[in-house]
Amino acid sequence: MPGKVFLIGAGPGDPDLLTLKALRLIQSADVVVHDRLVSPEIMALVPSATRRISVGKTAGFHSVPQDQINALLVELAQADLTVARLKGGDPLIFGRGSEEAEELAAAGVAYAYVPGITAAQGAAASTGVPLTHRGLATGVRYVTGHRAADEALELDWESLADPDTTLVVYMGAANMAEIAARLIAHGLPIDLPVLAVAHATTPRERRLPSTLARIAADLAAEPMEAPVLFMIGRVAGLYATAALPLPRELKAAHLRVVGHG
Ligand SMILES: C[S@@+](CC[C@H](N)C(=O)[O-])C[C@H]1O[C@@H](n2cnc3c(N)ncnc32)[C@H](O)[C@@H]1O
Repeated sequence: MPGKVFLIGAGPGDPDLLTLKALRLIQSADVVVHDRLVSPEIMALVPSATRRISVGKTAGFHSVPQDQINALLVELAQADLTVARLKGGDPLIFGRGSEEAEELAAAGVAYAYVPGITAAQGAAASTGVPLTHRGLATGVRYVTGHRAADEALELDWESLADPDTTLVVYMGAANMAEIAARLIAHGLPIDLPVLAVAHATTPRERRLPSTLARIAADLAAEPMEAPVLFMIGRVAGLYATAALPLPRELKAAHLRVVGHG
């Protein structure tokens, strides 16, 4: 059998949010190549005999450079292995899945995408904050708040500062002071609700309700461990009434049944 790479979205962390296809591939692949964002609860579903390779990417720090990850995937597939390339959330939302696919295609390696629940949707479901809501938001935008070292945060502030659109900012914790200030400077109200969510859908989930004017100071006072995203917009004001309980501890028995059943 020729090798093949599956670019798989592992979702935001809760193993119950994996697709059946993702679970099947994780449990049948010859090798699992995974990012640091993939939760330990999901890694517990990889059969103990399966080879695992951590390429450990975290925000602002790539322990394995992208070109080496690309080369590794090509090499594994050319050794006729079935590779589960596991990524947090969805592979095609700030996941660099399409960059890896380009390299695989160029090397003549077969690949397929397996979608995952992106962090924004996981956080929305977990906290009870809808990303759109009649009368509050007519649309939603997923935005990166990451800037490469020494580069300016070049976003289209004019169009982002739309009170009818919910913004979900990924990779924005380090730049939230600037993001909030720019949005205010472009017309969003200082009291626009913001909800920061860390480790959404996992037992480590934390939430920080705030406003555009306060979010940077609130974060400085109560730092949140990565990964963190920010839901900005009127819908975040529903948090006070809609808040769902924090995810419960995952039961070890459940992991055993799903992982090795
Ligand atoms: C490189 S992006 C990857 C996004 C991923 N492909 C997705 O679809 O969710 C990493 C960022 O996603 C967000 N993120 C991923 N998982 C998260 C989680 N469980 N809770 C909160 N934010 C998360 C954070 O903003 C983090 O900095």
